[in-house]
Amino acid sequence: MNIAVVGAGRIGLPLAAAFAGRGHDVVACDINTARVEAINRGENPIPDEEGLAELLAEVVASGRLRARPDTRAAVADRDVVLFAVAVDVDHEGRADVANLLAAADEVAAGISPGTLCIFDTTLPVGTTRSTIAPRFEAAGWTLGRDVYVAFSPERLFMGRVLQDLNRYPSVVGGLEPGSGDRAAAFYREALGNEVIQLQSAEAAELSKLAEGVYRDLNIALANELARVADIHGIDISEVARAANSQPFCHIHVPGTGVGGHCIPVYPRFLIQGEGPSDLAALGRRVNDSMPGYAVDRLADMLGSLQGKRALILGLTFRPNVAVTHHTNALDLKREFERHGAAVFGHDPLLSEEGVRSLGFTPAPEPLSGYDVAVVHAYHGQYDSLPWGGLAPLILDARNALDRSHIEAQGVRYVGIGRPPTPA
Ligand SMILES: NC(=O)c1ccc[n+]([C@@H]2O[C@H](COP(=O)([O-])OP(=O)(O)OC[C@H]3O[C@@H](n4cnc5c(N)ncnc54)[C@H](O)[C@@H]3O)[C@@H](O)[C@H]2O)c1
Repeated sequence: MNIAVVGAGRIGLPLAAAFAGRGHDVVACDINTARVEAINRGENPIPDEEGLAELLAEVVASGRLRARPDTRAAVADRDVVLFAVAVDVDHEGRADVANLLAAADEVAAGISPGTLCIFDTTLPVGTTRSTIAPRFEAAGWTLGRDVYVAFSPERLFMGRVLQDLNRYPSVVGGLEPGSGDRAAAFYREALGNEVIQLQSAEAAELSKLAEGVYRDLNIALANELARVADIHGIDISEVARAANSQPFCHIHVPGTGVGGHCIPVYPRFLIQGEGPSDLAALGRRVNDSMPGYAVDRLADMLGSLQGKRALILGLTFRPNVAVTHHTNALDLKREFERHGAAVFGHDPLLSEEGVRSLGFTPAPEPLSGYDVAVVHAYHGQYDSLPWGGLAPLILDARNALDRSHIEAQGVRYVGIGRPPTPA
């Protein structure tokens, strides 16, 4: 099959390489010309994506994958075009689909009759039909007759996209049944995947939002329970272990909020859509309050944070992936500064410039001499950190540390919903 993937980013590029690895002829289209050139040299622009470097080198060398900046011309001979252009929220929390629409316009102007277009980017319910489809109609296409449009949410986990591709079923829904059938057949052939075909694009759009809001609300519940545990001096991790021994209970791990796109951003698509969204909004409020809660707690423990030196370890939104979208490290920084502390940032996955561009003062090596340290994203590199000299108090923002290991080095430990080591 001749396939184009539009948007050769964290999701689109591994996807394009995976199709090529299965013998398809693939063009990856991106407006970022530096990225296009790197891909065509066989260089991997996403080093923390497991297995991608080897696969990319192989499929580029074999000629099965190439990248192009000229989407309109590149899609002319394609059977299938997948869209993996990112959609974020604007300053009012509404979906910003400008890049996706620009890509759709280019594709609509370039494709040939019979092309199947699949939108993979998470969208508010109804967007594929009400906002994207008209761009194809405006280009003169009759949908369901000469161009087929479907929605199929990406459910992949950054860092292990290639492993995840066959781990979960592909979910698809067409604007009309013929497009849904074609999209289902495509995923079966192109990835060898189990497919769950829903009755409409809207159902497929809602299924992805359901996954995100389910996680967000369950994290919010864990966070509320953690705050109850703090009041009573109870350790939430043993409470969750006990409760989760009952098969219908899945208490999540509390923390200082949620970063990335899938969990904190996509519930906002529900909130701005039609229909009830009280719970989605409440979950967001609870999770967004956690950085302030955690830093207030540290201020109580230390008397005051005024003039104190605070270190934040791991600035990415989650461990072992160099992505900083909506990272809570920034919320923690804001909260420490509200209390008058001087905040330093450290992240082995980011360059010094990357740390600065987030607004942090880079923490000089070796790391020592802070009044308090927060482990925000626990990267593998932190396994060998000498906790003893770092700071007398460590906040475990994701309950990821072994507290006995920290305490054995003479350091006070406190977690989210976990009592502090006595002073
Ligand atoms: N990253 C994840 O973990 C993840 C997980 C599940 C789903 N998704 C979905 O995948 C989407 C893409 O996410 P990502 O992390 O790959 O984003 P990304 O920012 O890494 O990549 C998007 C790419 O699109 C390119 N682009 C922007 N406008 C374009 C245009 N008009 N034409 C061609 N290319 C254009 C950008 O240059 C960039 O390389 C997200 O919006 C989300 O819905 C992501």
